Amino acid sequence: MSTRTKQAIPAGTDVPRHIAIIMDGNGRWAKRRLMPRVAGHRKGVEALRGVIRACAERGVSHLTVFAFSSENWRRPQEEVTLLMELFMRALENEVARLHENGIRFRVIGDLTGFSERIQTLIRDAEALTRGNTRLTFTVAANYGGRWDIVQAMKKLMAAGLSPDEVDEAALAQKLSIADMPEPDLFIRTGGEQRISNFLLWQLAYTELYFTDALWPDFDPAALDEAIASYRTRERRFGRTSEQVRSAS
Ligand code: IPE
Ligand code: IPE
Ligand code: MG
Repeated sequence: MSTRTKQAIPAGTDVPRHIAIIMDGNGRWAKRRLMPRVAGHRKGVEALRGVIRACAERGVSHLTVFAFSSENWRRPQEEVTLLMELFMRALENEVARLHENGIRFRVIGDLTGFSERIQTLIRDAEALTRGNTRLTFTVAANYGGRWDIVQAMKKLMAAGLSPDEVDEAALAQKLSIADMPEPDLFIRTGGEQRISNFLLWQLAYTELYFTDALWPDFDPAALDEAIASYRTRERRFGRTSEQVRSAS
């Protein structure tokens, strides 16, 4: 089997087409204010509203955010319950506004982990906004990058592919966000510099940006700083700097 890549090099753009964000630091934001952690999560929903709007205005076509990881079930039961309630309330209250603004809404992750009510709200929101094209806003909930690769592999095996037929393209087609360009820019707030099992496969060539800003404080100006940093990066995709410059 050849390991020489058959992948096309994506065209460079000034504005990232796809931004993926780990929205971290809600708990610490609240703690600093002597508030309960859930107050930070509530404030985090507000910050997200601003970032969605800013992405749409700047011409970003895909925004994918990590809202709840498959590991977050390990948190105290009370926090998990409050997060689920917040998620449900956001689904009930925000989807109409997303739709009015031409935004397509999607959820990726193992949805069977959620209540029937939440699953229904998700399906309805996805159906309502399916035809929107301005920005695709995807929430990763009960999501894990390893889970995603395993569920893709299971689909290939269920389809009866032989080992020879399994290649990167075949696997990539079965991943949760197969129909989207891979993220150009990854942002993690909250100071931690790790991926925490987010989009493992898709981040292979993404530009990584880490900021100490806590998620509730992350505003459109902070987003612009991240995009400005992205613009200074040279995306070589394995080539030399000279090759990149002569190709552009
Ligand atoms: C991110 O903020 C939100 C979720 C994981 C749901 P945290 O709750 O992880 O905030 P910190 O990291 O404790 O500050
Ligand atoms: C990652 O944040 C997941 C989300 C933001 C939803 P965590 O706060 O759970 O990550 P770790 O545990 O610090 O790696
Ligand atoms: Mg955290």
